Amino acid sequence: MKEAEKEEWKFTGLDDRLRGRDFLSLHDFTRAEIWYLLNLAKELKAGQKAGNPYPVLAGKSLGMIFTKASTRTRVSFEVGMYQLGGQALFLSAADIQLGRGEPIKDMARVLSRYLDGIMIRTFAHSDVVELARYASIPVINGLTDLLHPCQVLADLLTVIEHKGQTDGLQLTYIGDGNNMAHELMLGGAKAGMRVVICTPDAYRPDPEIVRLAMADARENGGTITLLSDPQRAATGADVLYTDVWASMGQEGEAAVRAKAFQGFQLNRELVGLARPEAIILHCLPAHRDEEITAEVLESPQAVVFDEAENRLHVQKAIMAAVM
Ligand code: CP
Ligand code: NVA
Repeated sequence: MKEAEKEEWKFTGLDDRLRGRDFLSLHDFTRAEIWYLLNLAKELKAGQKAGNPYPVLAGKSLGMIFTKASTRTRVSFEVGMYQLGGQALFLSAADIQLGRGEPIKDMARVLSRYLDGIMIRTFAHSDVVELARYASIPVINGLTDLLHPCQVLADLLTVIEHKGQTDGLQLTYIGDGNNMAHELMLGGAKAGMRVVICTPDAYRPDPEIVRLAMADARENGGTITLLSDPQRAATGADVLYTDVWASMGQEGEAAVRAKAFQGFQLNRELVGLARPEAIILHCLPAHRDEEITAEVLESPQAVVFDEAENRLHVQKAIMAAVM
């Protein structure tokens, strides 16, 4: 490559501070590092829209391991890698030896000889930690039963785009104390938000994640509050968030959960208790008229497609920064 061309490929925000790092949870990153990624994402988004792509991963390959279904994660990582000049390989667990029992620690070391990064979506978070431990290349968490950091980074970008900032805003999540609730606590804490998690008592978030998030919140000027009264939780919210009541892998519990979550539907009444200019987020896919009414999901306050789009931009930032 000629020197002049190299110059064109530079974009102002990128440096080596996160090179080689795994992206398993926002808890592992300082607030400054999260802001670095968000600023990169903004720059990449603006560049892409202006017809100035940044092929900084030319010649690099990302392996994408999926043991669960996906629309957004699969397509946005694959397209994101393509836009950055690299290539992505879709590795369904049904087709690779992992599905036939090859140990994660062996797969990690083999894939590290071929690839420049691995994105994985799977059930047990401990499997992703093990993959990261044995891989010599960066591992990106594309969702586990415990956490979903790429989604929450996209959520923070969406909040900043619509609200101008995150500090001091009340983010109320109503629903299951699941991977989304966990990562929203961790990411919201780093972003200085007042995070309210409202669940039925039997579906509270993991106490260890709550403990970590509370410590992160104390350091960054945020708060974490656990409630079981949706009306109280929704009152005064700047951001309202919900997610499915039965996550991937919990399909067999769907009927029991549908009963347990009665009263936790994000509907017009709860939205009416939030601030008038509140935005509504949902990681998608949504089940209309279960956790959120069709009316609320289709209302102008719901910015869920901006949110889905931002998966692409933040993941490009993560890949450009760590790979
Ligand atoms: N929100 C999200 O992760 O969507 P997918 O399951 O479609 O990837
Ligand atoms: N909690 C949901 C999120 C999907 C993006 C699940 O794990 O299925």
